[in-house]
Amino acid sequence: MKRIVSLLSVALMTVASCAQVSYDVIPLPKSVQLSPAGEAYSLSQGSVVTYDGNNAVLASNARLLVDFLKAGSGLELKAQPDVKGAAITLGIKNEIVKSKKAKNKNEKPKSENKEAYTLTVDRNGIQILGASEEAVFRGIMTLHKAIGTEGGESVALPYVTIQDEPRFVYRGVMLDCARHFFPVDFIKQYLDIAALHGCNQFHWHLTEDQGWRFEVKSMPELAKKGSVRKQTVIGRNSGVYDGTPYGGYYTQQDCREIVEYAAKRFINVIPEIDLPGHMLGALHVFPELGCTGGPYEVWPHWGVSREVLCAGNPKTLEFLKKVLGEVADVFPSKFIHIGGDESPRDRWKQCPKCQAKMKELGLTHEAELQTYINKELEAYMQQRGRDLIGWDETLEGGLSENAIVMSWRGTKGGIQAARQHHRVIMTPTDFCYIDYYQLKDQWGQPMSIGGYLPVSKVYSFEPTNELNEEEAKYILGPQVNLWCEYVGYPQHAMYMLLPRLDAISEVQWMPGDKKDFEAFKARLPRMLKLYDKLGYTYCRKIE
Ligand code: ACM
Ligand code: ZN
Repeated sequence: MKRIVSLLSVALMTVASCAQVSYDVIPLPKSVQLSPAGEAYSLSQGSVVTYDGNNAVLASNARLLVDFLKAGSGLELKAQPDVKGAAITLGIKNEIVKSKKAKNKNEKPKSENKEAYTLTVDRNGIQILGASEEAVFRGIMTLHKAIGTEGGESVALPYVTIQDEPRFVYRGVMLDCARHFFPVDFIKQYLDIAALHGCNQFHWHLTEDQGWRFEVKSMPELAKKGSVRKQTVIGRNSGVYDGTPYGGYYTQQDCREIVEYAAKRFINVIPEIDLPGHMLGALHVFPELGCTGGPYEVWPHWGVSREVLCAGNPKTLEFLKKVLGEVADVFPSKFIHIGGDESPRDRWKQCPKCQAKMKELGLTHEAELQTYINKELEAYMQQRGRDLIGWDETLEGGLSENAIVMSWRGTKGGIQAARQHHRVIMTPTDFCYIDYYQLKDQWGQPMSIGGYLPVSKVYSFEPTNELNEEEAKYILGPQVNLWCEYVGYPQHAMYMLLPRLDAISEVQWMPGDKKDFEAFKARLPRMLKLYDKLGYTYCRKIE
């Protein structure tokens, strides 16, 4: 009897472990074909992950796969180059390159997506073949999520053929590190979470009225002094302050470390220097760059300040070029964000220097002064091979030639820009502002900036609505934004992010007509289990 019971329990355990490996991950791959016979491949402790020994990037991918599986499932694999018959093989498939050079001119290439990969599991093991190393990495993430927290001596993976590729080339997530400063280790964790969800862009908001957080070596005072506010308001601009100085900035070495960490996860880091408004951090250090000459303090409260950089002072452009020159030295990103949101123009209206500049340039509206600054900066950054992103306010005075618009005040700015054949990133407040609260009972959770944005609403976002096929090509992709006036700690930031990032990841990755919120909700618990294992904080109630 004892034997029967123990045999039964072994059988049950096997069934349970099979059942819990699932390719129903988030974001859901494009095509998942399970073998009808239901066989499974057993991946065991000590199994080998192999790759072409001449490919250092695949070697890095293999090491990361080992790390991910160890953290998630506890399986300890070994990464070794050029092993025949290894359990997991990573490789680059040539089919896409070949098919691009099709013999027949009319033959359509099979896929042009450099992130396309196939993941197969059969009797020979697990194979991840990508159109590029980046694609292989996306496949690795799918495997990591499929295995999830399944561990023990071995894990049984059902035979499968997965073919996958993302819908959008730009899949962003933003973090405001200016209202509150987050340590480098947390940024790395944030990048891990982003990578787990297939994101490939980290928009890093680095400067604000409440603190300048990027070291500029040619102006050391800027970050040293500009990063520190004397105190912080308690709650929502209550008029009561905590009396405690608050600061912190990233050295260029920190930034390089983050760029490298992100690159290994195939995430590009887009720094944002928000200009010409949101500049009190800098104006505090260089008051001569403001229209009134100051003095200015690093803001201890929230909101939009009327104090902005003076557009008529030639020193302003000198200053910005110095800053952006160093930004370009540190961040290899093709895209650099120059902000441009919420920059009131009343100071410019009253400032003799700004008015003289408008006259000199023949401008009739102050909005065009902002375009003048942007055009100067664009010319400067194009020499360095960079394109500039701006918030949708930058449309108001006319866009500079290669500008990319980040549409936040709804989608209308993005639509307008796409129709002008400018590239667009969609991040409308109503769907993408994850600083909004996520439960109806807003008092049952930490304070947020306001607005109700549940997971289901994020999931329902359709970034190319209202655009025809031709216009839709200008939509690079969607992004969620985490502003941090009311988010001061890593755990809180993760709570705001998860699982709304899961929702946006399906918007970013899957064709719109394949999305299904109920099916998504059914897939979510396995992800949450993985978050528990990895120590991520998240909102437990889904609405
Ligand atoms: C923004 O939310 N001010 C871009
Ligand atoms: Zn001025």
